[in-house]
Amino acid sequence: MWREYGDLVRLRVMPGFTIFLSTHPDHAEHILSTHCENYQKPDFFLKPMGLVQGKGLFSIEGKFWQKHRRLMQPAFQQRRLIRLHSVMWDCVESLLQEWEEQPADEVIDIAAEMKRLTLKIVGLALFSVDLSDEFNRLARALRIGVEYVYGRLTAPLSLPVWVPTQTNLQFQQAKRTIDSVVLEIIQNRRKESEQSDDLLSMLMDATDEETGKGLSDLELLNEMITLFNAGHDTTATSLAWTWYLLGLHPEVADTMRSEVDAVLQGGEPTFEKLPKLEYTRRVFDESLRLCPPGMGLAPRAALAADELDGYAIPKGAIVNIAFYFTLRHPDFWERPEQFEPDRFLPMNVARRPKYAYMPWGAGPHVCIGKSFAVMESVMILSAIAQRFRVNLVSKEPVEIDPRFTLRPKGGVRVTLDRRA
Ligand code: HEM
Repeated sequence: MWREYGDLVRLRVMPGFTIFLSTHPDHAEHILSTHCENYQKPDFFLKPMGLVQGKGLFSIEGKFWQKHRRLMQPAFQQRRLIRLHSVMWDCVESLLQEWEEQPADEVIDIAAEMKRLTLKIVGLALFSVDLSDEFNRLARALRIGVEYVYGRLTAPLSLPVWVPTQTNLQFQQAKRTIDSVVLEIIQNRRKESEQSDDLLSMLMDATDEETGKGLSDLELLNEMITLFNAGHDTTATSLAWTWYLLGLHPEVADTMRSEVDAVLQGGEPTFEKLPKLEYTRRVFDESLRLCPPGMGLAPRAALAADELDGYAIPKGAIVNIAFYFTLRHPDFWERPEQFEPDRFLPMNVARRPKYAYMPWGAGPHVCIGKSFAVMESVMILSAIAQRFRVNLVSKEPVEIDPRFTLRPKGGVRVTLDRRA
């Protein structure tokens, strides 16, 4: 539709229900920034999302969202993330050790490995629980919950959650497990006198400047589940595609390895060294451009009639910002299908409109976990590149499996050569 009709496509789904698909950076700026007070996530999106995560940052709007965002933002600031560095590094180290013990020619699915790693990191960083253990009750329940919500978002006519179908009952059981296990973690933490270095502790300490109050146990529960949902599949999927793209472009992988060797000098990717891995960061940025983990943002509904780029947007219309296409829009990206990390050199970034690059969203709802995800991803990419050459088993194109995230269908099969 984008190729045929251009940057704003109107779909009349049924009388009174219109969806617009938008791919132009100026539209995104209008909706997410300059006129953002007129656009909110609609109920048909918020309700299913809220089934698992309750009223967490991703599934709330208005004043309630503002309060939560204000309270949570400081925990995600770059300088606060230093507290999570060692948790992340321990997880990465233990994966590298496992890999070192494997036979050199063993084929692994690096997409599945990135998922296992980011699950472990997110569980430990959030509330010091290892969620990569398949037998962990909470991990199992969260998996069922996420799949259930995905099912409801893609099949809006499914039976209400209270109808006792097998799937609904299984979901309700999973949700009870999630709530009780996470609440228990929160309540036990309140009794502890020693500080932990995880996000739960940071969020427990947060107080609102206006009211002097912090988040209640229920609010913390919802936010923990929201952060879990938003924070591992996105990063795992992005890293899987990054290894795939590096495998297709050995010259880029060589340049990245040279940078890693020069910056790390055989040592660990410490908190101070990560920002010096500038090329590695550009590789990740370019991978997010070509293979973002999402097709676009959550839908937004117009609260009042508006005008966008000369077109009338009726009150109640839904606007979908499909940034997948903005990220390969020929008006803003030369050779859009090519993998060229140097597009992200500062002088090249300065030449593009800001909203041409939105894999993290933009405006007030921009990804709160961006610095967390960048720190984690640059650490993982550099630590693996330092010790291994990652070789694709096949250079055949890998298809997208469009689920919650745009995963590589069938995974990314690689072999690992240990570096001297
Ligand atoms: C490569 C990794 C990631 C990508 C590409 C990504 C992308 C995004 C995008 C596009 C949005 C905006 C959605 C919208 O406006 O409709 C978003 C929001 C959000 N992200 Fe991320 N994300 C990533 C990792 C993370 C991580 C690691 C966390 C937490 C630890 C996280 C937590 C959130 C939350 C809570 C929101 C909702 C923010 C709000 O509405 O105020 N994300 N993310």
